[in-house]
Amino acid sequence: MFDRLVLFCLCCCCLVGKLNMLCVFGDSDAVKSVSVTEGDSVTLDSGVTDKQSDNLITWNFKTNGPLIAKIDQAANDISIIDDGPDKRFRDRLKVDHQTGSLTITNITTQHAGVYQVTISSKIKIIYRFNVTVYARLPVPVIIGDSPQNSSSYCLLVCSVVNVGHVTLSWYKGNSLLSSISASDLNNSLSLRLECLDDSYSCVVSNPISNWTRYVNITDLCRPCSGMLASCGKRLCMPTV
Ligand SMILES: *[C@@H]1O[C@H](CO)[C@@H](O)[C@H](O)[C@H]1NC(C)=O
Ligand SMILES: *[C@@H]1O[C@H](CO)[C@@H](O)[C@H](O)[C@H]1NC(C)=O
Ligand SMILES: *[C@@H]1O[C@H](CO)[C@@H](O)[C@H](O)[C@H]1NC(C)=O
Ligand SMILES: *[C@@H]1O[C@H](CO)[C@@H](O)[C@H](O)[C@H]1NC(C)=O
Ligand SMILES: *[C@@H]1O[C@H](CO)[C@@H](O)[C@H](O)[C@H]1NC(C)=O
Ligand SMILES: *[C@@H]1O[C@H](CO)[C@@H](O)[C@H](O)[C@H]1NC(C)=O
Repeated sequence: MFDRLVLFCLCCCCLVGKLNMLCVFGDSDAVKSVSVTEGDSVTLDSGVTDKQSDNLITWNFKTNGPLIAKIDQAANDISIIDDGPDKRFRDRLKVDHQTGSLTITNITTQHAGVYQVTISSKIKIIYRFNVTVYARLPVPVIIGDSPQNSSSYCLLVCSVVNVGHVTLSWYKGNSLLSSISASDLNNSLSLRLECLDDSYSCVVSNPISNWTRYVNITDLCRPCSGMLASCGKRLCMPTV
């Protein structure tokens, strides 16, 4: 009974704005995940829809970390603090003075992490965003790689260089033939091809984007004379 009374009083105080510090709403465990590709821009929505309100909106990088932007709607005043000690946000921050939303332009992996927005008026609301930055994917390269002792098949090697965490896969039509996931800088995956066919493709992907490169057999492999019973087509071999 006493607890309920205290809670009731707290809520009243919150509503009349007397107990600002105690009235933190928003689920502190709820973190909104945001994925973005390196070099792109991302906008984190403050959730403020009432443009005429007198909110004080503050943005912090990392929970309780450095203040990077402050929007005082009552005073119509905006401060962007992008020259902190490590300068990682320099010239990359924009805020919408009406909604208090924060935009990070030309994002890099240095800007990955948790962002926290605090909207203070009569009550205080906190939202958190977990920003994950993915590398921009390069287009995979396919080459025909001649095996030393074979003239009966074509070996195709698909590769990507200088990438972070990606998956590299070979498809025939829509069927997955093989794939590797690696965090190496260089990735390559080979495919032994015995039947002449243009339906193969190599795909490089991460959770938010992908590139497909289609095999052109005419370019990569030259036909040889024998027939392969299993597919009723001519064998092929790498062009040199
Ligand atoms: C984006 O950031 C990178 C790395 O900091 C920089 O080299 C590049 O010039 C920036 N691009 C633009 C358009 O600002
Ligand atoms: C943010 O997202 C990354 C990647 O999904 C995850 O590893 C990390 O634990 C998340 N951090 C928080 C605080 O939710
Ligand atoms: C080519 O040589 C490798 C190793 O010497 C052997 O494992 C493979 O079976 C050979 N391939 C053919 C088609 O003879
Ligand atoms: C990745 O491949 C490129 C081109 O083949 C090569 O120059 C570079 O040294 C390789 N890097 C690593 C870490 O293997
Ligand atoms: C490639 O991206 C598209 C959407 O952009 C998605 O529908 C598709 O499943 C992705 N493919 C792979 C292999 O990740
Ligand atoms: C494959 O490559 C050949 C020779 O470069 C070209 O003439 C042909 O149009 C290509 N086929 C496709 C489907 O792109």
